[in-house]
Formats: sequence, C-alpha cells, structure tokens
Amino acid sequence: MKLHRFEEVWLIFAVIIIVGSMVITGYQAFAQEMGPPSHKETIDPQKVDQTAPFDSPGVFETGDNAYEVVMTLEAFNFNPGDIEVPVGSTVEFIMTSKDVIHGMQIIDTNVNAMIIPGHIQTISQTFNEPGEYLILCNEYCGTGHQLMSTTITVK
Ligand code: CUA
Repeated sequence: MKLHRFEEVWLIFAVIIIVGSMVITGYQAFAQEMGPPSHKETIDPQKVDQTAPFDSPGVFETGDNAYEVVMTLEAFNFNPGDIEVPVGSTVEFIMTSKDVIHGMQIIDTNVNAMIIPGHIQTISQTFNEPGEYLILCNEYCGTGHQLMSTTITVK
C-alpha cells in the first residue's frame, strides 16, 4: 500500500497525540495519583447521624485560616447552612448524603461535587474574595430540588 506523504505525516502526528495523551493521563493517574478526589471512603447511608464526623455536622476551625465543614445533605437542605468564614480561609468540605444523590455547587468557584449516599465527598476551596456565595444543589433530588440552596458568607 502506498500512502501519500502528507497522509503519512498526519498518521504519525495523530498517533503521537493519542499515545502522548495516554502517557500523560496514565502518568498523572498512577504516578501522581491524580484520580478523582473522592468516593474512596464509604459510609452506611442509614447510619449517617450515628457515624463520626457526621454525628455532629458544623463548621470547625482546624488551624490558621483553615476550616472544616462537616456537612450532611438531605432533601432539601444543607446542614449546616448559612456558613460564615473569614476572608482568606481555606475550607475543606466533608460531605455525605442521607437519602438520594444531591449536588453541591458553590457559585463563582470551581466547587461542584456530586454527593452520593454511601460515599464521603471531600473538596476544599480557598475564599480570597469577600462576599456571599450561593451554594446550590445541582442534581435533581425531588419535588423541592429547586429550593435546596444555602450560602457561605466570606467576610
Ligand atoms: Cu438536592 Cu437537588
């Protein structure tokens, strides 16, 4: 089979791109352990209220400008809601659902997580801009889904 010179060049080019992406993705996934950050920890969704740390949800100061928010989600609220943290705080959200799949999205940030019953989701965010950030559920979870929201106030 005789290939045109340009076809050869493009074939080689395409193979380099494909193999290159696989090598980079594989290196990140296995050598740098850059897998999805969550869903490794599981929990009995029937016993969330009795299982630490979810037996006492809330906002906890863990260091200089470091906070931990232990949050449970259920139809149709975030517990705790109306969170307040100082400007410059790094907040680690540790979340699980008590019933169905919910979403946890913080508007104007990159935080956007799916909260699945039986799994613990952890995500952290630094808030350098003061303001009131809207927290939304973005997974349809029932008739009150559109009411499921709260805020995090940074000041
Ligand atoms: Cu919770 Cu939609």
